[in-house]
Amino acid sequence: MFETLPPTDQAAEQESLPESRFGDRDLLNRELRENPVTIVGPLAANIPSVRESTNQVELGVLVGGEAFNEAKLAHIDDERGGFYAVFKPVSGENTEVKESTKISSFYLREMVAAHLTENLLDFDITPPIASRLIDGELGSLQMYLSHEHYVTATKFLEECSNFEDALAKMHASTDHSRIALLDFIILGADRSDDNMLIHTTGEKGKLDFNHEEGQPDLVAIDNAISFSLHAYNADPKLVGPSQMLSSSRNLQNGELASLALPIPENLRINLAQALTNWDSFYADETTRGLVNEDAGQKTGVSIEIELEWARQRIAALVETGIFLSRANCKRLPEHICRESAHPHPAFASYQENEIPPFLRHVKKPTR
Ligand SMILES: Nc1ncnc2c1ncn2[C@@H]1O[C@H](COP(=O)(O)OP(=O)(O)O)[C@@H](O)[C@H]1O
Ligand SMILES: [Mg+2]
Repeated sequence: MFETLPPTDQAAEQESLPESRFGDRDLLNRELRENPVTIVGPLAANIPSVRESTNQVELGVLVGGEAFNEAKLAHIDDERGGFYAVFKPVSGENTEVKESTKISSFYLREMVAAHLTENLLDFDITPPIASRLIDGELGSLQMYLSHEHYVTATKFLEECSNFEDALAKMHASTDHSRIALLDFIILGADRSDDNMLIHTTGEKGKLDFNHEEGQPDLVAIDNAISFSLHAYNADPKLVGPSQMLSSSRNLQNGELASLALPIPENLRINLAQALTNWDSFYADETTRGLVNEDAGQKTGVSIEIELEWARQRIAALVETGIFLSRANCKRLPEHICRESAHPHPAFASYQENEIPPFLRHVKKPTR
């Protein structure tokens, strides 16, 4: 089966070019939504490299558990020969993980996280995706990025010849910053190296720098453990780009100390724009889908409130101009992320428990 997969990027061959690294995003989204689709089989059985790294949710509370969500390889037909996609059916979502995270729907969160990234932040770091009913099963269907060229960060770091250099390049990239911002906004709690794909030349361990000049191209997958303050705080470790850009590990006592790294100007523009456009994101069908299934929310915090907090986190990023996470935002209102022992200097002028002026107009939601 694997041999029949296209050897090169599916997107690269398309005519209509793309502001998006994935190809013509609108077209791909439409084809994922509407075109004939065939299930090939379980993803791990058809793509050997998925089998190796697969599906261990990194959330601290779950380590040791068998945490699997079902994923299938699908083929979408189109006039250009079609392309492969990953189908994650709702019925295959791991109930144990849902219980521990108290997350009612992975599928809808995956959809809203992608929608927010793509349409609100204009970040282009999540694969094109659509809701789909296939053979009577509802789920998310996202473009499959060929493992010939896109490998998990885990696999890439194992295969690269100069680990320090590769890591430095990854960390300096704009995509790394984008993922850090995304994870703070959506409270992404599962950003392990298995949930980031990196573009390589096709040669093991060799980065492809074509996307943004001189920079590796990183993609955020598996954004389902999100929009849940409960899950974000239940995880003892803060992981991934968000942790790296907001804190550093004190080598003596092992504690996280806060950092104040500025957000690059071009990304601040995206964030400011996102605030302006929030209402249309909020009113959109995808977001409404998550809000309407609110009855299933098990944390006692409604999804409407979780979304309002996400908006407040964007406001905080715009206002402070620095990368934030729960490790460096003690002076932010407690309810929008988590306090740490190390207040960030940007909030030092405010009294403990005082809400910074830029957030005062926002009512504190009642739980
Ligand atoms: N869009 C995609 N393109 C290529 N590979 C993918 C894609 N989505 C998932 N995978 C592969 O499948 C694995 C499991 O998918 P993931 O979305 O992380 O689900 P899970 O919740 O089971 O961890 C990933 O680590 C990756 O190797
Ligand atoms: Mg995963």
